[in-house]
Amino acid sequence: MVSDALVQEIRERAEILEVCGEFVPLKRAGKTYRGPCPLHGGEGPNFSVDPVRGIFKCFVCGEGGDVFSFLMKHLGLDFPSAVRQVAARVGVEVPEDSERREDPFAHLREVTAFAEEWFRSMLLDPGIGDPARSYLTGRGVDPDSAEEYGLGFAPEGWRRLRDAAHSRGIGDDDLLEAGLLATSERADEPYDRFRNRVMFAIRDLRDRPIAFGGRVLTDADEQAPKYINSPETPIFHKSRTLYGLNRARHAIRREEHSLVTEGFMDALSLHIGGFATAVAPLGTALTSEQADLLRRYSGRVYLLYDSDPAGLRATFRAGDVLLAAGCHPMVVTFPEGEDPDSLLRREGADALRGYIGDAVDVLERKLQILERQGYLDSIEGKRRAVDGLLSTLRSVKDPALLDIYRGRAAERTGVRRDTLVSEVARQRFVARPRRGLEGSRAATGVSPSAEETRGVDAVERSLLLLLARDRDLLEVAVETGLEDQHFRDALLRRIYQALLVASDGDLDLSDDAALVWTALQEDDSEVVHPREAFDEIVRRIVHRAKLDRLTQIDRELELAEEDQAISLLIEKEEVARELRGAGVPLSFLRRYSEKARA
Ligand code: UTP
Ligand code: MN
Repeated sequence: MVSDALVQEIRERAEILEVCGEFVPLKRAGKTYRGPCPLHGGEGPNFSVDPVRGIFKCFVCGEGGDVFSFLMKHLGLDFPSAVRQVAARVGVEVPEDSERREDPFAHLREVTAFAEEWFRSMLLDPGIGDPARSYLTGRGVDPDSAEEYGLGFAPEGWRRLRDAAHSRGIGDDDLLEAGLLATSERADEPYDRFRNRVMFAIRDLRDRPIAFGGRVLTDADEQAPKYINSPETPIFHKSRTLYGLNRARHAIRREEHSLVTEGFMDALSLHIGGFATAVAPLGTALTSEQADLLRRYSGRVYLLYDSDPAGLRATFRAGDVLLAAGCHPMVVTFPEGEDPDSLLRREGADALRGYIGDAVDVLERKLQILERQGYLDSIEGKRRAVDGLLSTLRSVKDPALLDIYRGRAAERTGVRRDTLVSEVARQRFVARPRRGLEGSRAATGVSPSAEETRGVDAVERSLLLLLARDRDLLEVAVETGLEDQHFRDALLRRIYQALLVASDGDLDLSDDAALVWTALQEDDSEVVHPREAFDEIVRRIVHRAKLDRLTQIDRELELAEEDQAISLLIEKEEVARELRGAGVPLSFLRRYSEKARA
């Protein structure tokens, strides 16, 4: 391992601009350099490199860090390799590797990697793998795809894997801990958990196999469950893992949506069919952790579940979980009896694209169903329909979406909006009492606090208060054009700068700024419609900065030489046009010109 001091020296000597510049065309923009993000494959100049601080950040995909993390993320290197690579550029000698970094579960990773390799070799074995290969071919999975997606075969028998592992010096304890062997009261010895099944390797986000799913070869066998998965292990947490996400995540960022299917086979078929954004939960309902995971890449989630009643129930349950995570779920509806895999085989990729294109929002889908079942025809039906919509309305986290949903639900059921709001609120208070959150609709402001009365800029403080609650809003701010120089308050500006460069975790702040940041995080003052409030605040700060600039231009004009004056006048015109284009009220502009004249 490379010592911390050496890592520090290498980091200080490295020119991040040069390293990133090898992969991205960068242009100067103030103190930083901007270009298209190579990590998510974006086109806009959202990838920014700060050569002075030695850090990069993409405002769209949220990745950020130092020169080492850039190489790790872009080239998939581990930390020591990234350090070595940079060391070589800057001419620092790094002593040879003496010890690997400690991973307490390294043994489980090794066992799992061994099993994957063994399952793969069994699938390729001319004799043993034959039934599995023909099964896969019959399902449209050609040998190249089987290889590419890491499929395998667990042959018949109680101790095939166990024996193979023993001969490699892997013992029962490790095999049991990795979930590859099972025990039973009826058996004296541990036995292979997966027998006579096609094997799907489940991977973590670093592409390492961490668990398996296995499917029987014949549907006729009613005795055995169709699919079984590895149990929970120290390296496999079902509720936090999505099958296929290791491959899909870059595509999800790029294409700004994910496709969620019910299981392995659907997700695999989609990938093979060219739908790179497909993932699947692991034999359980979608969890909130999985929803959070998806949201990190894109909030737009298409649900591609079976269209039978069970599939529909699962769809709406997943829909609520996604809404609560701040995602926007869309429902894809297939003909009765089809799933993505069967549809792709029967009708092809273009047809599937058509179905995805016809997806409707989850609330809309509920309304469609209620309407078809005649609920919306009678007063009593409508009342029951409202009950059916409540779980969806109650789950929505995004205030703008909630507003749309309320309007839509009121329109279709004929129930007054206020009544819907209080219905939802009533139930919510029973579950989780909160102070009048749903009550007033007028206010979007943030209540004043002690610091504000001490003269801290109130608008800027409100902005950071909202950011402290929801760091995802940072992206909104950046997209609206909020830059650090727009801040008047130096302390708050430093917090904003720190937010811009931090990826997710703690902020790098001086003591006085850290105090303010902690106070903001602990501030529990009530904000109604935080998202709308945030938009408004960002616009206000940006506009205010532009108005300030207009005043300043006028001052500069008084002293300017002729050629300077011309460029100042051009800039003045530009800024004024931007303000008008952004809908800044005339009164504002007029007040400004009065101020300028005075
Ligand atoms: P389905 O029965 O719809 O299977 O179960 P499928 O996905 O269409 O699979 P194929 O096409 O027959 O191969 C949906 C999902 O429910 C889970 C699996 O994740 C499956 O993909 N499941 C199903 C189990 O975990 N165990 C089972 O025994 C059956
Ligand atoms: Mn299927």
